[in-house]
Amino acid sequence: MTAVRLILTLILGSVQLCRTDPRPGKPNELLVITAATEVNDGYLRFMRTIRQFNYTVQVLGLGEEWKGGDVARTVGGGQKVRWLKKEVEKHKDKQNTVIMFVDSYDVILASGPEELLKKFSRFSHRVVFSAEGFCWPDQRLSSKYPAVHHGKRYLNSGGFIGYAPEIHAIVKQWKHKDDDDDQLFYTRIYLDKEQRRKFNITLDHKSHIFQNLNGAIEEVVLKFEKSRVRVRNVAYDTLPVVIHGNGPTKLQLNYLGNYVPTAWTYEHGCGICDDDLLDLSARSDEEMPLVHVAVFIEQPTPFLEEFLERLATLNYPHTRIRLFIHNNQHVERFWTRHRSLFPGVRTIGPEENLRQDQARTMAVEACKKDVSCDYFFSIDSDVALTNPDVLRILIEENKSVIAPMLSRHGKLWSNFWGALSPEGFYSRAEDYIDIVQSKRVGVWNVPYITQVYLIRGETLRSRLSAVSLYQQEGMDPDMIFCKSVREQGVFMFVSNRDEFGRLVSSSSYNISRLHPDMWQIFNNPVDWREKYIHENYSKIFEDDENFIEQLMCVCLSQDERLSGGYENVPTVDIHMNQIQFEKEWLKFLKDYIAPVTEKLYPGYSPRAEAVMNFVVRYRPDEQPSLRPHHDSSTFTINIALNRKDIDYEGGGCRFLRYDCKVESPRKGWSFMHPGRLTHYHEGLPVTRGTRYIMVSFVDP
Ligand SMILES: *[C@@H]1O[C@H](CO)[C@@H](O)[C@H](O)[C@H]1NC(C)=O
Ligand SMILES: *[C@@H]1O[C@H](CO)[C@@H](O)[C@H](O)[C@H]1NC(C)=O
Ligand SMILES: *[C@@H]1O[C@H](CO)[C@@H](O)[C@H](O)[C@H]1NC(C)=O
Ligand SMILES: *[C@@H]1O[C@H](CO)[C@@H](O)[C@H](O)[C@H]1NC(C)=O
Ligand SMILES: *[C@@H]1O[C@H](CO)[C@@H](O)[C@H](O)[C@H]1NC(C)=O
Repeated sequence: MTAVRLILTLILGSVQLCRTDPRPGKPNELLVITAATEVNDGYLRFMRTIRQFNYTVQVLGLGEEWKGGDVARTVGGGQKVRWLKKEVEKHKDKQNTVIMFVDSYDVILASGPEELLKKFSRFSHRVVFSAEGFCWPDQRLSSKYPAVHHGKRYLNSGGFIGYAPEIHAIVKQWKHKDDDDDQLFYTRIYLDKEQRRKFNITLDHKSHIFQNLNGAIEEVVLKFEKSRVRVRNVAYDTLPVVIHGNGPTKLQLNYLGNYVPTAWTYEHGCGICDDDLLDLSARSDEEMPLVHVAVFIEQPTPFLEEFLERLATLNYPHTRIRLFIHNNQHVERFWTRHRSLFPGVRTIGPEENLRQDQARTMAVEACKKDVSCDYFFSIDSDVALTNPDVLRILIEENKSVIAPMLSRHGKLWSNFWGALSPEGFYSRAEDYIDIVQSKRVGVWNVPYITQVYLIRGETLRSRLSAVSLYQQEGMDPDMIFCKSVREQGVFMFVSNRDEFGRLVSSSSYNISRLHPDMWQIFNNPVDWREKYIHENYSKIFEDDENFIEQLMCVCLSQDERLSGGYENVPTVDIHMNQIQFEKEWLKFLKDYIAPVTEKLYPGYSPRAEAVMNFVVRYRPDEQPSLRPHHDSSTFTINIALNRKDIDYEGGGCRFLRYDCKVESPRKGWSFMHPGRLTHYHEGLPVTRGTRYIMVSFVDP
C-alpha cells in the first residue's frame, strides 16, 4: 500500500495539475473546510478571500453553540474535530480529493487553489500540518518532536491539508470532549511514529503553504507585486498561501488583511475597498437610516460656532437624526438659531455635572436600547467635518465600526493608530504616514480610532451588547472603547477614500479672551483663515486686471477692551502688543499681506516686519482727525474696523501730494499705501460717532 502511494505521489509531483485527470493519486478536487459558529468580521474577511480565489468551501458549525472552550486564553477546540469527523465521513473514499482544514476568524487566503495544490504536491506527503515555533499545549512533548535544522519544529492544527482518506482516518480517532484540545489530539498522532508513517504526515516547517504569525512576525513582510500584494516569509523565502493570525497576532493579521489579497496598483493603492457598497441613493428622506448623533464638547474648543454650524448643515435628513449633546461650554447662541432643525434633541449642560465617560455611556445606551436606531455617530467638538455628506458616505461603506480619516492640517496627528505597542498604546505602523497623507487610499482595518466614528446599531445590540464601552477604572474612554471593540472581534475601520475635513487643535486656547479664536492663527491656520479671511482673498492673485481691492476681514473692532487704555496724543490708539496679539498679527502680515504687496509692487519683497501695529480711535469729542504726516514704514496698511454712515460719519484718509482721498473703505477691508516720503497724508475728521481703524507700519 505504502509503496504504491509512494510511486503515485512521486508522479503527481512531476506532472501538471489538471482537475479532470482521473488517475488515482492525483488531486482532482479541493475542498476547504472551516469552522465558525457565528458570522463576525473575521469570518466575513475569510469568506471574501475564499470567494476572491474561487475556493470551494464547507463551513461547519454556523449557528451552533460553541462548546469548544475559550481557545483565545486556554486549551480547547475539540468541537471542531467532532464536526470535521462527521463531515469527512462523506469524503472518506475519494482517493483524489484533497481537503484543507483552516480556522476562519483569524485566517486569510493569499492565493488560489492551483498554487495551493502545486505547493501541496511538492511536499510528497499525504498530509501536511502547519508549523510554529511554540510547543503548545504540552511543552513536555517538545523533545519527542523530530529535530528540524531550519524551520519551525512544532505542529499547529489551525491549518492542515491532505488527501481525504488520510484526513478521515486521522479525525475518526476523535472520541474526546468538545472542550478538549484539538491541537493536542493531532500532536499525539503526529508524534506517534507508527501513525506518522502510516498517514504519511509532515509539517510545513518553512511556511510554503501555512504562515502562522505567532512568533514569526519578524519573518513576514508585504511584497508588492504588479497588481496584488503577497505576504512573504523572508526567513525561508516563501510565499505562503494561508495566513493565520494565531495567538496574540490578530492585529498583525488585520494589518496584512488590509493588503492581502486585495487588488493593488501603485497609482491607486487601496485597502479593503469593497465595491459592494450599500446604496442609499434611491432612498427617500423617510427611508434613510435613523442615526443617533452624539456630540461631545468636553473642553473649550476653538471654532466651536463653526463646528455647530456644520452640524446643522449636514447633508442628511434632520428628521432621521436624533441629536444628543454633552457640553461643557455654553452653546445657547447656537440653540436659539438651530434648535428647531433637530426634533427631540437632548442636551446635557455643564450644570448637570456628568463626567465624560458617563455622558458617552448615556448616549450609546440610548441607541442600544432603541431598536429603531440604525447607527450611532459619535463626534467630538475638535473635529471639523467639512464634508457635509459624511454620514451618507460612511453608512454606504457598510462596516460595523468606521471612522472618517482626519488629521490636523499639514500634520501627522490623526484620529487613528495603525498599530499598537505591546502595552496597548500608539505605535507607528509602516503605512501610517502614507495613509494620513492619502498616498494610499482605502478603508483600513486599524486597532484604534477616536474623536469621530459611526457604529452600526445592530452591532451595539449584538456583539457589543454586553460590554462597557466607555467606563472602566483607570482608563480613558477612548482607550476603553477601542479595547472593548477589539476584544469582541469587531473590526474598526478608518476611511480615507473621501476627503472629510480635519482635526482642530484645542491646546493653548485661551478662553479668557473675548474673541479667543483670533489667536488661533498658529494652531489652527485653516480654520483661522476660513473665519477671518475673505473667501475671495485668493482672487487677488488671479491675473484679473479688474482687481483693485484687497480683501480681508478682521474683527478687532468688536473687542470692547480696545476702547480702553490709550497712549497720549497724537492718536488715540492701542497696540497689538498691549493685547498680546503682536505675534499673531505679524503672522497675519506675513501670510496674507506680504503676498499682496509682492503682487502690487513687483520687485519688492517685504520682510513683513512691523513694530507699529495699532488700532486708532477717532471721535469728534476726542481726536477727530490727524494732521498731515509721513509714516515710518515702507508701506502701510489701514483696515476699516467699522461701518461708515452707520457707526460714524466723516473720516477717511487724504494724500496731499496727489490730492486723492480714500473716504469710505468697507468694514474689514484694507487699503495699502507706500509710506515714508512719497505718501504724505492726513486723517480726515470724523464728524459723528466713533471710527476705528487698524494700522500697521510695515517694514519700517
Ligand atoms: C510519505 O510519502 C512520501 C512519498 O509518498 C515518502 O517519500 C515519504 O518517505 C513518506 N513519509 C513517511 C513519513 O512515511
Ligand atoms: C473566479 O470565477 C469567476 C467566475 O467563475 C471568474 O470570473 C474569475 O476570474 C475567477 N477568479 C479566479 C481568481 O480564478
Ligand atoms: C452589508 O453588510 C452586511 C453585514 O455585514 C451584509 O450582510 C450585507 O450583505 C452588506 N451589504 C452589501 C450591499 O454589501
Ligand atoms: C489669557 O488671556 C488673558 C486675558 O487676555 C491674559 O491676561 C493671559 O496672559 C492669557 N494667558 C495665556 C496663557 O496666554
Ligand atoms: C466671492 O466671489 C464670488 C464669485 O465672484 C461671489 O459670488 C461671492 O459673493 C464672493 N463672496 C463674497 C463674500 O463677497
